[in-house]
Parts: sequence; structure tokens; C-alpha cells
Amino acid sequence: MFVLCDSSIPARNGERVDAGLLEHATLQWLDSTLSSPAPDEPVLVALHHPPVDIHIPLMDPIRLTNPDALAAVLRGYPGVVAVLVGHAHTAGATTFAGLPLLIAPGVASTVVLPGESGPRVNHAMPPGLALHIVDDVGRVMTHSRFVT
Ligand SMILES: [Fe+2]
Repeated sequence: MFVLCDSSIPARNGERVDAGLLEHATLQWLDSTLSSPAPDEPVLVALHHPPVDIHIPLMDPIRLTNPDALAAVLRGYPGVVAVLVGHAHTAGATTFAGLPLLIAPGVASTVVLPGESGPRVNHAMPPGLALHIVDDVGRVMTHSRFVT
């Protein structure tokens, strides 16, 4: 089961807000939704903004601003097998709340790492995608592909 949470913040005074937030109502909805999957059904929770620093100075200030609230909900549900995010424009993997945190690559541009050459947002790098396979024991295998 995929559970998709909106972590966007509406524009303020006509200005786009790049950071993310899971509103209280969204967290309540997530908590309620996670209590309902069939037994042994693996659950992937997806949102746009990474809840942790990814060590890219351009992106870290605009990550999810209330990660502890998300972690508190996720820790109550052992059926959750991974958290999927985007926003970072770089393929990556780490952990969050004891779960794999899998970051999809950018489809329109790639944000370069500190020390990499070129513009901070590189439109010449190929778009990518992540393919997630959940097996019978709830293990997540992720394959990244880049389209040239
Ligand atoms: Fe974004």
C-alpha cells in the first residue's frame, strides 16, 4: 500500500514556499490510514520533502520542517517498510525513524553535491527515476535508472 502525504506549504503573499510541512490534520490522517492496511501488507509512505539533512547546502534549508512529528507517527506502525521522497533532485538513501529513506533522482535537473563542478542546479545531467520492489518479507530493493 502506498500512503501519499502532501508536505507542500501554500504560497505566502504570492511567494513560493520551498520548505515542507506536514500539517496536524495530515499527520492525523496518516496515523488513521496506517492503522487500516491488511495484516502483513507492506506500506510505503511517500511525501515530497526529505525529513533529514541530505548534506547539500542548497536543499537542507528547505527540507521538511517537522520531521519529529512524522517520526512519532511512523514508529507506531511496523508495517511501514520505507519512506519515499523527492524534492532533492539527487538520488540518495539514508534512514529515518528506523526506516529506509529513499530519495528519487531529479526528473528535470540534478542538484550537484558540494565539490562537484558546474551549476548548483544542473540541467545537463540526465533525468532519472527510482524503481522500488518490495518482496514477500517486506524488504525494499531500489533500482535507479537514468534516461539519456
Ligand atoms: Fe520540491
